[in-house]
Amino acid sequence: MQWDLNLSPTLTMKMINVVLILAIVVGCTQKKENPTVELSEEQVIARGRQLVSLGGCHDCHTPKIFDASGMHLDQSRLLSGHPNGSQLPPIDERVFQPGHWTYFNAHLTAAVGVWGMSFSRNLTPHETGLKGWTQEVFIATMRSGKHMGIEHGRPIMPPMPWENLKDLPEEDLITIFKYLQSLPPIDNFVPEPMNPSQAIAFKY
Ligand code: HEC
Repeated sequence: MQWDLNLSPTLTMKMINVVLILAIVVGCTQKKENPTVELSEEQVIARGRQLVSLGGCHDCHTPKIFDASGMHLDQSRLLSGHPNGSQLPPIDERVFQPGHWTYFNAHLTAAVGVWGMSFSRNLTPHETGLKGWTQEVFIATMRSGKHMGIEHGRPIMPPMPWENLKDLPEEDLITIFKYLQSLPPIDNFVPEPMNPSQAIAFKY
């Protein structure tokens, strides 16, 4: 059997009309390519929590709990930085020579290396943490690698991986900052970083 493909001119016109109308309808109802979705404050904070987890911030900024099953984040002190006054083991001074080891304490909140010794900051909105920081300060800090984003300020010390964050879209940095500001404020004063001689002289 053969199919008759000779359509009459009127039928062809009707079909073209139907196709045109469909195209217009689809064109009008299709979503825009990049719709601006307004997230609620709650959704922004939930997203910020995810970005902070993905960004590994807890590794260095959250004290840990050690039990028989291993090492866990201390949920009661999330992102409160190096626990002030916690015991640090003695330093082998060879660590300050280039090419030697870099050490971390057990919480991974204090690090010793060729630069000296540094302590992860309290990221909660307490006076001893990021209270008083604006999102502009936070963005400038992450983009510049300077302490509190001050143009000629001191560099942020290793191992803070600010270079991993510096190219994030502004929106993501704001989202991270909003989450940090939503945390319960925790009172924990973190020492300033030390150069090698200060670290050697430091009494634990
Ligand atoms: C490998 C360890 C490490 C990781 C991972 C890390 N930090 Fe840090 N962070 C530090 C240390 C150490 C300091 C203190 C550096 C100093 O005093 O110069 C610091 C400092 C900071 C500061 C204060 C900067 C300033 O102006 O003094 C902010 C804000 C910060 N970190 C945010 C974050 C965020 C957000 C993440 C996750 C995306 C993160 N950090 C991941 C170790 C880390």
